[in-house]
Amino acid sequence: MTVGSLLAADLVIAVLAIAGWLGGGAAAAARRRRLALGLAAVALLATAARAVTVAALARAGWWFAAEKVLIAAPLSLAGVLVAGPWLLRARPDSRSAAVPLLFAGYAASGALLVTLLHGYPVSVGAGLLAVAGVVTATAVSWRALDTRPSRTLSRAALVVAVAALLAGTALVVTPNAAPAVPDHDHRAARIVGEPTRRFTLTAGTATVRAGGRDVAAWAFDAQVPGPELTATVGDVLEVTLRNRDIGRGVTLHWHGYDVPNDQDGVPGVTQAAVLPGQEFVYRFRADQAGTYWYHTHAVSDVGVRMGLYGVLVVRPAPVTGVEVTVPVHTLAGVALPAPTTAPVAAGVPVRLRLINTDSTTHRYALAGVPFRVAAIDGVDLRGPTPLADTAVLIPAGGRYDLVFTAPATPVGLFVDGRAVWSTGAVSAATGGWPVLDPLGYGVAAAVPWTRFDREFPLVLDRGLDLRGLLPRYAHTVNGAAGPDIPPQVVRRGDVVRFTIVNRSLVVHPWHLHGHHVLVLSRNGARATGSPLWLDSFDVRPGDVWEVAFTADNPGMWANHCHNLPHADAGMMLHLMYG
Ligand code: C2O
Ligand code: CU
Repeated sequence: MTVGSLLAADLVIAVLAIAGWLGGGAAAAARRRRLALGLAAVALLATAARAVTVAALARAGWWFAAEKVLIAAPLSLAGVLVAGPWLLRARPDSRSAAVPLLFAGYAASGALLVTLLHGYPVSVGAGLLAVAGVVTATAVSWRALDTRPSRTLSRAALVVAVAALLAGTALVVTPNAAPAVPDHDHRAARIVGEPTRRFTLTAGTATVRAGGRDVAAWAFDAQVPGPELTATVGDVLEVTLRNRDIGRGVTLHWHGYDVPNDQDGVPGVTQAAVLPGQEFVYRFRADQAGTYWYHTHAVSDVGVRMGLYGVLVVRPAPVTGVEVTVPVHTLAGVALPAPTTAPVAAGVPVRLRLINTDSTTHRYALAGVPFRVAAIDGVDLRGPTPLADTAVLIPAGGRYDLVFTAPATPVGLFVDGRAVWSTGAVSAATGGWPVLDPLGYGVAAAVPWTRFDREFPLVLDRGLDLRGLLPRYAHTVNGAAGPDIPPQVVRRGDVVRFTIVNRSLVVHPWHLHGHHVLVLSRNGARATGSPLWLDSFDVRPGDVWEVAFTADNPGMWANHCHNLPHADAGMMLHLMYG
């Protein structure tokens, strides 16, 4: 069983235990002793099963189980200890087991709420709030069910509840101390030389054709995707961004391109958003070859979805052969790009530059020819071997370059089963193909570091965020939601290691700006293939990824989930050094 399915199973079992206890309590209150016994038995079984799932999760990593061991287990145990004896004792005509059963239900519910609303790291405050809730709910039920609560006991309950509530609230609401933030100078403009490639992109609302109908979009130069920007290594790019009428502002972020910080296009961090009528000029040297893309970073969850993105390709030298860029996107429910067919003469080298500009993973399958994955996220792989009838999963924001020599017979590229590009009539059932695991593909090389100067855990989850104006159910990192996640402060030259843990039930495509990170391991297994220098990678439910990089590009860098609605809902922090 994967850790992801364990996490899901544990939740289901917890709900079952709650339903059993509360249902049993209600049945006892209605003097239906048999039903109460049956439901309580379900609850007991579920509680026992949870001991197994929680132990397994703890073995997979403390991040997955901390609050379950420290808060849920004691609460559940208290429930069993209180309810158990009453169950055995209660006479058929008595309701006396009702309150103890309900207590067990409240305890299990309190524990589940701690997991759902707070999670990792465990906090004493959350535990106290759970206790306050359980005691209050029990006291209320006790009065309501009129089994003559003793005055002293109900007073004591009240005191415990109020004390736990006050202490818990105080602990939860007090913000963590923020680390000292280094000085860094955004204006330290770099001299990059005279521009050799100039582009102008004008952002504006537009109506574009997609899937045979008119669609309202936000677009660069009235087209989705925006114009493809190309350069050769060594070029100096100058891109003038104009905003015609995007009221919420636009910027250009060069996804995966490790530009100097002041060119990174993150509004409020590296520049101000470009408002209607304004412009901003980006300038940077094209020193990394590969497949990249650009997109707005202002209200990016809306802006990118509406169409403010395009391709950036930097080539090492003039191209021989055929190159096709395939930026996959979903625009107003229409899957882009529209399918194209173009014959390629046999023997010609072909490079497909596959790009996922959506917020969720896509599956790409190349049929009719063996191919190699030459590069991932713009970086060439070492010793890629030929693959056939194998699909690749590209995370949100990610890119794969597939290369092959055109055969005499047709070749077709399918994205999620849909033909997107082909050299002739192909049909292939690619749905059952195995998926390439890039961690074991190509030829290994030694990890360039022997020590790590800084280590950061990034525990991804959901939780209640009370810091903003309105409470929201946020996507969290280490129990906090942006903009209240403490920045990761390092020094220039540090070798930094991230341990990224997904406690949640959804995929989080992780993306650090300004750096490619080297994958060290996933779920305890070392990466054994070509070094993988990624800027976008899917951290699936239950996954633990270890990645590292050298802090060699100073500035303040966004570090976030590239499922952009998640980033907007809190899953965004910053790495900084001067
Ligand atoms: Cu492609 Cu911060 O994003
Ligand atoms: Cu996410």
